[in-house]
Amino acid sequence: MRKKVTLRRLAEMKAGREPIVMVTAYDFPTARVAERAEVDVVLVGDSGAQVVLGHDSTVAVTVDEMLVLAGAVRRGVQSAFVVCDLPFGSTEISDEQAVATAMRFVKEAGADAVKIEGGGRARLSRVRAIADAGIPVVAHVGLTPQTAVALGGLRAQGRTADSAARFVREALAVQDAGAALLVIEAVPAEVVDVVLPEIGIPVIGIGAGRADGQVLVLHDLLGITEGKAATFVKRYARIGDDMVEGVQAYAREVRGGAFPAPEHGYSANEEALAAARAELEARDGSSTAW
Ligand code: KIV
Repeated sequence: MRKKVTLRRLAEMKAGREPIVMVTAYDFPTARVAERAEVDVVLVGDSGAQVVLGHDSTVAVTVDEMLVLAGAVRRGVQSAFVVCDLPFGSTEISDEQAVATAMRFVKEAGADAVKIEGGGRARLSRVRAIADAGIPVVAHVGLTPQTAVALGGLRAQGRTADSAARFVREALAVQDAGAALLVIEAVPAEVVDVVLPEIGIPVIGIGAGRADGQVLVLHDLLGITEGKAATFVKRYARIGDDMVEGVQAYAREVRGGAFPAPEHGYSANEEALAAARAELEARDGSSTAW
């Protein structure tokens, strides 16, 4: 049994230049996959809105839906550090709203930490409030999908002077506000490298160079999602195709009569068979069932 991954362990990994592996999960079986693969951090990402709930962005998923996903993941993970995304709309109103939402993820789903997108003024206040409430916060800067519309779409950040300066400002600010970990999404590695020496907390990249670790959406890396993947995705398997082939084979056998075979059923003893036949005979001619 692997030792539980803690914030202290993640800090040691950063200090020892041991890359941190983070992956998303959204239910019990995907959590078991992540746990058995011995990843360090499991993220119950609001990307679940797209990859498991079929929405076209992360915006629609609710706190209650995320809590169901998070609870299932928690039950599948024993040693990895579990981070849950705070979905859009669950933190924007006030610090109090953000703390109350974060509390639900800790108390109802057993999250080790919560993740919050953005590094603007109001976001910093939320990071500070949640951290002050004793809940570890993972900040997320660069491309922040919950507010992609305001950023001009799902596009890389830090590629213009304004955007690069803003990225550096926000990365430093969320650290100062008390974030325990930082996710950087879709920012050129050279721009990330400018600020990395100033960041003392573990930095996890996705399309952001090497940093202290990496995160990918499980369904992307396993090839379950359909269509064109983002530039930063590497596919390590084609599970989606395997799943379709499996279901096609099953359908073929049901239609052709090859499934089920005798070994997929149960045997009855003579006594049970005789009783079944006797029951039928006793009812012959009668139209009333009971
Ligand atoms: O929701 C998610 O999966 C994420 C990762 C892409 C970092 O936020």
